[in-house]
Parts: sequence; C-alpha cells; structure tokens
Amino acid sequence: MGLDEIISRRVSVRHFDASRKIPRETLTEILGAASLAPSWKNSQTARYYIAESAGAFEKIRQCLGARNARNVAGASVLAVTSFEKNIAGFDRDGRPDNELGNGWGIYDSGIGNAFLLLKAAELGVDSLVMGIRDSEAIRAVLDIPESQEILAVIALGYRAADPSRPPRKPLDEIIRMY
Ligand SMILES: Cc1cc2nc3c(=O)[nH]c(=O)nc-3n(C[C@H](O)[C@H](O)[C@H](O)COP(=O)(O)O)c2cc1C
Repeated sequence: MGLDEIISRRVSVRHFDASRKIPRETLTEILGAASLAPSWKNSQTARYYIAESAGAFEKIRQCLGARNARNVAGASVLAVTSFEKNIAGFDRDGRPDNELGNGWGIYDSGIGNAFLLLKAAELGVDSLVMGIRDSEAIRAVLDIPESQEILAVIALGYRAADPSRPPRKPLDEIIRMY
C-alpha cells in the first residue's frame, strides 16, 4: 500500500467489529513504527500503555465518558499515550529552551501517534484518537507516575462499517506561500 492510500484509509472509526482481535505481532509492528518517530534531541519521551486484556480494556473504557466508551466497545485494545515531562524542550539544567516548554513533549507524542495511526492503517487496523477521557482515573488504574502527562487514548481494532471522512478546509485557507 502506498502512502497516499494509507493516509486516505486512516479515518476515525466509531463502530468496531468486536469479533476481531489484533494479533500481538501486528500490535508490536504498530508500536515499533511509533518508536521510529522523530523527537526533540532524540529524547523519546513518549510512552504507551496498552490495555489488551479484557479486564484492563474495560477499566480504561470506563474512563472515556459515555459517548467514547460506547463507540469503542468493540475495539481490540486501548492505547493510553503519555510523555515524560520536563525533558523534551528543556536543557540539561532543566530550563526550557524556549517558550513552548512541555509543548514539545506533546508535539513529539503527537508525531509518534501519527506514525502509530498510519502503520495501523497500513496493516488494516482502524483507530480512534480520544482526547475526551478522565486522565486522573486512567493514572490510578495504570499507576502512571506524576512525572508523566497523560494525553490521548487511542482505540485500535477493525471497522464494522466504512465511515465517511469529515470535510477538510481548502489548502488556501491553511497555507500561506511566500
Ligand atoms: C487530539 C484529538 C482528540 C480527539 N478526541 C476525540 C474524542 O474524544 N472522541 C471522538 O469521537 N473523536 C475524537 N477525535 C477524532 C476527531 O474528531 C477526528 O480526527 C476529526 O473529526 C477528523 O476526522 P477523521 O479522523 O475521520 O479524518 C480526536 C482527534 C484528535 C486528533
């Protein structure tokens, strides 16, 4: 599959086929792609907590709010993404290199997440990124240290039906050429 096809295959899926589970090797490939993403000074502060067992999946699903929880009921795994704070964007003495501070850790995690989503799409695995989640409940369930900021939860699984892609802004609205 070429990159254009992978990009157009990736779409937010909100109705998953509960009868299909992602093989462990496929999951490892997807996470391996995320680890190849660039990061600030190669600091690699992104972290992934994978709720794969039925028990862990259900505990994290309960942290998503009613609508998201319903939409991901048939997914195979829930990947909680986070990053180690105060490293990416900071110098050796712990001072921010510029005005964005921990924004760079979030940026790095976002690139890693994009790699993850695209590799998943290439392997026929569908996804939903969710920012609506109760991060403190997730922290308690997975025992995530306070040194990490919890970001999105990504549901991975197999679509039960083909979703349509919401429209995008025209390029001339988001790009300015000089
Ligand atoms: C950071 C982020 C948070 C999101 N949070 C949610 C969410 O909580 N629930 C949901 O259904 N979709 C969520 N989405 C999915 C977006 O609504 C979706 O990506 C957007 O509408 C574009 O559609 P597409 O992904 O199908 O191309 C989120 C996406 C991103 C990138």
